[in-house]
Amino acid sequence: MERILVIGGARALGAAIARRAVKDGYEVVIGARDLAAAEAQAAEIGATTVRIDLQDEATIAAAAGRFAEGIDHIVSTGSAPHDVRAVELDHDKLVAAFTAKVIGPMLVAKHFAPVLRPSGSIVLFSGVVGWRPGWGSLVKGVTNGAVEYVARHLAADLAPVRVNAISPGVVDSGAWDRLGDSKVGLLSKSAAGTLVGRYGESDDVVDTVMWLLRAGFISGETIHLEGGARHKTS
Ligand SMILES: NC(=O)c1ccc[n+]([C@@H]2O[C@H](COP(=O)([O-])OP(=O)(O)OC[C@H]3O[C@@H](n4cnc5c(N)ncnc54)[C@H](OP(=O)(O)O)[C@@H]3O)[C@@H](O)[C@H]2O)c1
Repeated sequence: MERILVIGGARALGAAIARRAVKDGYEVVIGARDLAAAEAQAAEIGATTVRIDLQDEATIAAAAGRFAEGIDHIVSTGSAPHDVRAVELDHDKLVAAFTAKVIGPMLVAKHFAPVLRPSGSIVLFSGVVGWRPGWGSLVKGVTNGAVEYVARHLAADLAPVRVNAISPGVVDSGAWDRLGDSKVGLLSKSAAGTLVGRYGESDDVVDTVMWLLRAGFISGETIHLEGGARHKTS
């Protein structure tokens, strides 16, 4: 049975990925900074947990130590948005945003490289904003863009372990529920901004992750999962 660690697996897309991976026969470990949330999710789907905070290298190192017998795949959904314009940038929040998407995954590679099986892979999460600059999306855009380079360069560094990224458009993952009634407006605006005329569902992402885990001839790539949003001109 292949073993997969899903960092961010306690909620939203990470939880959906963890749930499907159990269903598809993987041994799933949910990595999260909130261990109680991870344990609740793990008990529900039949997984185990490990505490990982992408902002804290010691937790990454300690988690890797738990996998001395080997691991096949790592998925990281970590994200720490700082959605402000340049004049409002907060240094610590800026660093946290880069740590969740860029520095943290590189430190995961550092500590997990010795235990990742050669046939295994890492899947990181970028996002369409990296290619579609907008009001207040400076940090999200730059960090998502950087993830493409992390995947490309880590793939060369860790070869033959494959490293890829998924760049979703707006997905109704549960993360937008915090917007309350405004969520509907965001989703319909996003749907109108695609070529396919709809927003993303969690299953769109989960299907792509599961495919990528098995896509043994794909490495160093960013898969754009956004209904052609980058190609829509008007
Ligand atoms: N949903 C979308 O529309 C969309 C669009 C484009 C890109 N994406 C990307 O897809 C990924 C998943 O998004 P999502 O929709 O599932 O919602 P999300 O709220 O962005 O999920 C982020 C996940 O990262 C975890 N996380 C944050 N900081 C962490 C840290 N320091 N250490 C460990 N885990 C940490 C969160 O766990 P906590 O519970 O501990 O905060 C949560 O599970 C993100 O990278 C996001 O940027 C999503």
